[in-house]
Amino acid sequence: MPPHALPPNLDAHAIPSPCYVIDEAVIQRNCELIADAAKRCDAQVLLALKGFAAWRLFPLIRKYLAGVAASSLNEAKLGAEHFGKQVHVYSPAYRDDEIDELLALADHISLNSLSQWDRYRTHVTSAGIACALRINPQHSEVHTAIYDPCAPGSRLGMTADQLGDTPLDGITGLHVHTLCESNADALHRVVATFENKFARQLKQVSWVNLGGGHHITCDDYDVDLLVRIVSALRDKHNVAVYLEPGEAIALNAGVLVATVLDITHNELDIAILDTSAAAHMPDVLEMPYRPNVIGTGAPGEKPYTYRLAGLTCLAGDVIGDYSFDRPLHAGDKLVFTDMAHYTMVKNTAFNGVNLPAIAIHNSVAGDTRIVRTFGYEDYKTRLS
Ligand SMILES: Cc1ncc(COP(=O)(O)O)c(C=O)c1O
Repeated sequence: MPPHALPPNLDAHAIPSPCYVIDEAVIQRNCELIADAAKRCDAQVLLALKGFAAWRLFPLIRKYLAGVAASSLNEAKLGAEHFGKQVHVYSPAYRDDEIDELLALADHISLNSLSQWDRYRTHVTSAGIACALRINPQHSEVHTAIYDPCAPGSRLGMTADQLGDTPLDGITGLHVHTLCESNADALHRVVATFENKFARQLKQVSWVNLGGGHHITCDDYDVDLLVRIVSALRDKHNVAVYLEPGEAIALNAGVLVATVLDITHNELDIAILDTSAAAHMPDVLEMPYRPNVIGTGAPGEKPYTYRLAGLTCLAGDVIGDYSFDRPLHAGDKLVFTDMAHYTMVKNTAFNGVNLPAIAIHNSVAGDTRIVRTFGYEDYKTRLS
């Protein structure tokens, strides 16, 4: 499926609105590509659940990937229950009341600091699982500050200066995550800095986790370069290499179908939708970015321009301005592309607005299953 087209065989009128529709054929294609790259460089790839955690598709994804990367006890439980392969965890800090349960589920844990190691060393050692330290190479490749783990003052990982020549003493891995939607040239620069600044620590470990942010399934991603970087790192330092992408697994593998509820006018035409940037596509406001809507152009490019806006009370619940070939009317369907990752895992019921339903579609076989709908009970049970 081209990234800006409706998934083949999907009837947008046959599903509830709003609805995230995940195309399992694209998930499979993404996993095949990633598994092939991993095989070529003998890396192990984990699905970062923070980005995509549609567990009904885990039986498919587990055929290709080595396990999951979890950031919380809940994600670790989901991975252990439904994925059933390796469970790696990383969190900026762990909780005393969760650590033992977490360690019983995980086989690899990454700690953010040596003080966490001091606090949990006996727990980790008696659980007998592999432990890494997250390091901060202080090399920024991501230029949006809230997505840059190496921004000044970052809490994520220890710097080379902080570590000095303290022996790792029981820690067997290093974890470095610095990328976001990045190509392999960025990884190349990160790894070069990492090898240079953490040469002393690299000699003491047997595995390295290169984090996420690898845009492996993007059309222009340089897979050959990734293979060369990972192979060189592995061979030079005699380490096993893990990657934990989230977005790459679900890239272009889902759409959000929404409906126009009303058209208003204030200086420009405004279409109010049954979805919301704030509640259903939070990265649109957080990143921020302008999602693609099938069949639209830039403002003014086509004859009818509208501001697409959400149905919450937030004044800034605006998705963006788009132009159309025809005037919009209440009841019209709109399809936002690339909505499988960082949506379902991040959305909210702000204003009591229902979460979008979830459907699994197979664009090759041509079938669509509505696997989850949400209603009042889901809203109410999160409150008390
Ligand atoms: C430690 C860590 N690993 C993996 C990921 C997944 O990144 P992505 O979904 O961009 O591949 C993230 C994302 O923030 C992360 O913080």
